Amino acid sequence: MSFVMPTPLRVVGRPEEADRDFRGDMLAALAASERSISPKYFYDAQGSALFDEICDLPEYYPTRTEMGILRSHAAEIAALAGPQAEVVEFGAGSLTKVRLLLAALEQPVRFLPIDISGEHLQAAAARLRLDYPGLAVLPVVGDYTQALVLPAKPPGAGRRVGFFPGSTIGNFNPEQALRFLRMAARVLRGGALVLGADLVKDPAVLHAAYNDEQGVTAAFNLNLLARANRELGTDFALDGFAHGAFYNSPQRRIEMHLFSRVRQQVTLDGQVFDFEEGETLHTENSYKFSVDSLRALARQAGFEPGPVWTDRNALFSVHWLQAPA
Ligand code: AVJ
Repeated sequence: MSFVMPTPLRVVGRPEEADRDFRGDMLAALAASERSISPKYFYDAQGSALFDEICDLPEYYPTRTEMGILRSHAAEIAALAGPQAEVVEFGAGSLTKVRLLLAALEQPVRFLPIDISGEHLQAAAARLRLDYPGLAVLPVVGDYTQALVLPAKPPGAGRRVGFFPGSTIGNFNPEQALRFLRMAARVLRGGALVLGADLVKDPAVLHAAYNDEQGVTAAFNLNLLARANRELGTDFALDGFAHGAFYNSPQRRIEMHLFSRVRQQVTLDGQVFDFEEGETLHTENSYKFSVDSLRALARQAGFEPGPVWTDRNALFSVHWLQAPA
């Protein structure tokens, strides 16, 4: 028997406040002396499309490396998950990676992709349904950096298996990462989390991945200002700012910034903010991990770390983390 589910768009939290959050966070960023804003605001429809382009760049190794690891170990992961699993993806994006998992699992009962970008999520969920007509796909538009309430597991379901690929965890500072993992441990109680984490490596490899030849990462970074102009009515001069990305080695993270090329002013809600030449808006941190540091963090959040898989060049890691009962 196979049927196509109607396509409810499940909304959790207060997405109508997402706008207000962007405005408030941008105002706070502009008013601060060290200006920084959450990378979650990259992902409007255009930002999400640019991110998909980044994933295909020759310099951006994480996506294809993680896909390779998942492909090589899908059967092992499926065996750990067991039959009738329910899959919950945090920050679902374009739903490419989870297909490797869904294809290997024994009769997965339901898939809950959670993403902050509703439009992008709807389109990706519709494409997924075409390929998995028997699978209940329940997109959830929400911010998983906030407390998350999910529908109860369907009756007869096996384990709830979380999926957090791409090293998105690297966007959090250590304290936020711990808070996220604690939330995930609660939501996944009795199940497990499959987590992708980028590894510490030669800074030259990292530098190339975040400063690609074609300038897609620069466009992705600058889209934040374009989005602010569109949605908040700011007047950022898009050619007045330059993309910058570098490895902060003591902090083990890539930092992305938008550097003001000149001395200039930006207006938001009638307030005027000065940028000196060279002053920056810090737009993203992308933390890198060792296998052990990631496992220690997971343990601190209440998970029991299980098997870890990496590629032969030790660029990327995928972790099986068992959630507490
Ligand atoms: C989606 C957060 C994993 O940090 O590598 C890619 C985002 N930023 N290029 C990353 C990103 C610039 C990406 N994550």
